[in-house]
Amino acid sequence: MSATEASKTVWDDVDGYIEEQLIGPDLALDDALRASIEAGLPAIAVSPAQGKMLHLLARIHRARRILEIGTLGGYSTIWLARALPPDGRVETLELDAAYAAIAAENIERAGVADLVHIRVGPALDTLDELIEERVEPFDMVFIDADKPSTPEYFERALELIVPGGVIVSDNVVRGGGLADPDSDDAGALGMRRFHELLSRASASGRVDATSIQTVGVKGYDGFTLAIVSP
Ligand code: SAH
Ligand code: DHB
Ligand code: MG
Repeated sequence: MSATEASKTVWDDVDGYIEEQLIGPDLALDDALRASIEAGLPAIAVSPAQGKMLHLLARIHRARRILEIGTLGGYSTIWLARALPPDGRVETLELDAAYAAIAAENIERAGVADLVHIRVGPALDTLDELIEERVEPFDMVFIDADKPSTPEYFERALELIVPGGVIVSDNVVRGGGLADPDSDDAGALGMRRFHELLSRASASGRVDATSIQTVGVKGYDGFTLAIVSP
């Protein structure tokens, strides 16, 4: 086994240990993952530990309205919805109608359907509609859709979020591609553009942000946490 393979085994083992100690079996979430795989969805949902982190962030922030960009089978959606008060809402945006249908079933089975609204279509269009409709602003935004569009999603999130709101963006490190100016990966280049945007938005005092590298069952990646100025 190569050193890299050995590291990956340790990362998986540690994620397994964390899951066992701090998360445990969870019928709705486990079923959601199983149903998603059975339906042929790609296995790219956040890990259980990451899902719980999103859930805890939403609770720390006492979020009532959450916008999620990228639903897939609704795994992260369920974690977020469970953090909401009874009058809360997750608006989740998904391009693929077949994925959205699986997500709707998973969300229903998890008992949080009253808290979740799925909007099907290209997220850029849906975000522009939400801006146009002047929807009640969101307390938290989770960006987790097509990676090259992350900067454009972030710009729209700034228009849809409350002062002091929290923005989390997934998959920002892309195996180290984030720091590689010669990367030919569209996702990594998108995340570099995203960080350049964050840097400007930080310099102008609009946001304050950091990015954290992660390892685990999803490999080597990371997330950005940003707070919008009050
Ligand atoms: N947040 C989910 C994973 C999302 S995977 C979880 O952790 O459980 C990324 C999702 O973004 C996929 O379902 C993909 O279909 C969707 N997506 C890709 N391009 C999109 C676009 N332009 N608009 C909306 N959703 C998009
Ligand atoms: C991938 C991973 C993700 O977490 C995601 O949201 C989309 C794609 C991937 O590794 O391809
Ligand atoms: Mg992701």
